[in-house]
Amino acid sequence: MTDELLDGGVLPGEDRLDATLRPQRLDEFVGQPRVRRQLELVLKGAMQRGAPPDHVLLSGPPGLGKTTMAAIVAAEVGAAFRATSGPALERPGDLAAILTNLEPGDVLFLDEIHRLPRPIEEVLYPAMEDFQIDIVVGKGPGARSIRLDLPPFTLVGATTRTGLIASPLRDRFGFSAHLDYYDRADLERIVARSARLLDIPVDDAGGAEIARRSRGTPRIANRLLRRVRDYAEVEADGTVDVDVAKAALEVFDVDEIGLDRLDRRVLEAIVERFAGGPVGLATLATSVGEETDTVEDAVEPFLIQQGLIQRTPRGRVATAAAYAHLGVPLPTGEGGARLFD
Ligand SMILES: Nc1ncnc2c1ncn2[C@@H]1O[C@H](COP(=O)(O)OP(=O)(O)OP(=O)(O)O)[C@@H](O)[C@H]1O
Ligand SMILES: [Mg+2]
Repeated sequence: MTDELLDGGVLPGEDRLDATLRPQRLDEFVGQPRVRRQLELVLKGAMQRGAPPDHVLLSGPPGLGKTTMAAIVAAEVGAAFRATSGPALERPGDLAAILTNLEPGDVLFLDEIHRLPRPIEEVLYPAMEDFQIDIVVGKGPGARSIRLDLPPFTLVGATTRTGLIASPLRDRFGFSAHLDYYDRADLERIVARSARLLDIPVDDAGGAEIARRSRGTPRIANRLLRRVRDYAEVEADGTVDVDVAKAALEVFDVDEIGLDRLDRRVLEAIVERFAGGPVGLATLATSVGEETDTVEDAVEPFLIQQGLIQRTPRGRVATAAAYAHLGVPLPTGEGGARLFD
């Protein structure tokens, strides 16, 4: 069961507080109603047939609950949960070792599956499809390949980028779900739930303020809640009301619509340095001193979802809403107003 998780319930890539707040079962998972309903059917169907569920692929921006949902798959079917990740696997033998050590019905979580090296991906194909792997024993002319049977298992893959997953891999998942940014009502429920679990007194308006500025992301909602608690305990009487929340979020550089410093730097670069765009992603990333992947995975999707930037064939472009948000007047005349008419 979930006590199989590393280090007392802490999953790779999360700290202990995250682990406290992480929903353990499907009915504790707030939001994403469509995905929850579909996953419920997939899991119940499999349990009624007494077979492990089909392989599951979860995609979506960071912090939306992919790892959480993977652990829930294991918990719901009462299976052991084992976790690894694309970058952690260096040679095909690394994956073979994990696969041959699985017990029947185990859930194997493969995080950042889009970063799996190609030769390892090829080991995964027959493993997923036929529960078999071919391993090469020996070297040189005497080398031969032997086929091993694996116990039936469920692979849960997670990725921030579905676009980077080759279709032979994608096609081997029986169920794929995309997690989207959470709406405000769901984030309010998440903040209220976390406040209860952490025993932080938060009133409705204070909770709503945190939720509204959480970038649609539960991980950020939980983090902001903790920072607001710090402020409330140090600068006030410990209770989080709307004034405390606002003051605290200002100290921590979270703006009115939840943009953090990096979000704003990216937006300002497009508007000010590149005259509204279009600007290529790599150029944009360099100009703010960040990795291209970070801008593409963690910054851009939210700015697009908020209607602040658009992706065009020639690069990223700021919208009128971006100018309005930054308080920069819209460019006029020749060359300006590309998107604004
Ligand atoms: N639906 C939810 N309800 C309540 N809390 C949630 C929900 N989804 C995520 N969380 C909280 O947000 C934290 C981050 O979620 P999680 O680690 O599952 O995200 P992720 O999609 O795997 O992110 P990454 O892409 O960075 O690995 C969790 O520790 C959990 O506390
Ligand atoms: Mg994760």
